[in-house]
Amino acid sequence: MEYPFVKEREYFPILKNKIQLSSCSQSAMSLQVEAAIKEYTDGWLAEGMDWMGWMNRVAMAKQSFATLINASPDEIAVLPSLSLAASAVASALQITTSRNKIVTTEMDFPSIGHVWLAQKSRGAQISFVPSENNEIPIEFYDQYVDEQTLIVSMSHVAYYNGLKQDLKQISSIVHDKGARLFVDAYQSAGCVAIDVKQMDVDFLAAGAQKFLLGIPGIAFLYVKKELANELQPSITGWFGRINPFSFDVKSLDYAEGTRRFDTGTPPMINAYAANAAMELINQMGINRIESYLNELSSFAISYGQEKELTIASPLDLNRKAANTAFQCSNASMIEMKMREKGVIVSARNDVIRIAPHFYNTKEEVAIAIDMLVELKSKFEVV
Ligand SMILES: Cc1ncc(COP(=O)(O)O)c(C=O)c1O
Repeated sequence: MEYPFVKEREYFPILKNKIQLSSCSQSAMSLQVEAAIKEYTDGWLAEGMDWMGWMNRVAMAKQSFATLINASPDEIAVLPSLSLAASAVASALQITTSRNKIVTTEMDFPSIGHVWLAQKSRGAQISFVPSENNEIPIEFYDQYVDEQTLIVSMSHVAYYNGLKQDLKQISSIVHDKGARLFVDAYQSAGCVAIDVKQMDVDFLAAGAQKFLLGIPGIAFLYVKKELANELQPSITGWFGRINPFSFDVKSLDYAEGTRRFDTGTPPMINAYAANAAMELINQMGINRIESYLNELSSFAISYGQEKELTIASPLDLNRKAANTAFQCSNASMIEMKMREKGVIVSARNDVIRIAPHFYNTKEEVAIAIDMLVELKSKFEVV
């Protein structure tokens, strides 16, 4: 198949000089994102303050994220990080003696596990669904989730190896027991199609820095409409009020819907960047992006196997997203050596993650794998 995104690849100037395959960590900067950030700084420089314009862009970013996951914009809150989004959700949960269990997984990003562990002081019991060969068999959820479970928190796609989990199946297990489902979609938003209605998730959060093609400092939190008004997050702030501009210090009224999860002044420059990036993804269509990335995944697996690399990602394409993890004992050092040669990948513990986006080609993936093989043979400590 011919490379389908020739025009769009031109939006990423870095690709003329470097190979960037680090979308599981920081994706490449597009001209659109650069222009949006400049629009914010130019406006600030020339006009001093454009409060309405800035707020409008935050609203547009909520709309763009809502479009991407098939939600409505009033089901989206904006927070400065995914960790804080999870903390705000945790703070809104009533932990009772009959529902006090929080179930998360061994393959989740540590920061989110820490948020749940912090709920122990409020009386919660935390358990971690184990992994088996870098995957989580669906039956494990059946074993861990019971009638005492308050919430299950899991990653749609795992940061370590791109494991993709079936949200529809998991939400059905969770809801059968009367529990709620929180989904960390940081590694799936922007590379995997998400439909929160069809998948029936209660909470879903993603930051902008990775496959969403934006920058850190902003995260989006979806809370199902039917649920939002029952919840009163104690991690809160004036933007979570019915009217933030009433300036009534003595009244803690919660805004209608998910807006009650907004906290302080939103990250405005980040919203400019995130909105430009998500507009591009939405214009291109997430399904087209996902199916191209599946091709690159399939290529990364077969080429890696041909080169006798050990792959820590699932080999079944239905069980993995764009990130392919290759075993490598001194991964941080190899990442650095690859960067010196103009190839940007991302190390985690004992793996090198090659995480392409639509702007990458098969040839680039092959160059990165060849380089990894060569550097492993020179520098790997066994
Ligand atoms: C899957 C996943 N969840 C959460 C985080 C942390 O997000 P934040 O730093 O916005 O809290 C990361 C960061 O790498 C991640 O990969």
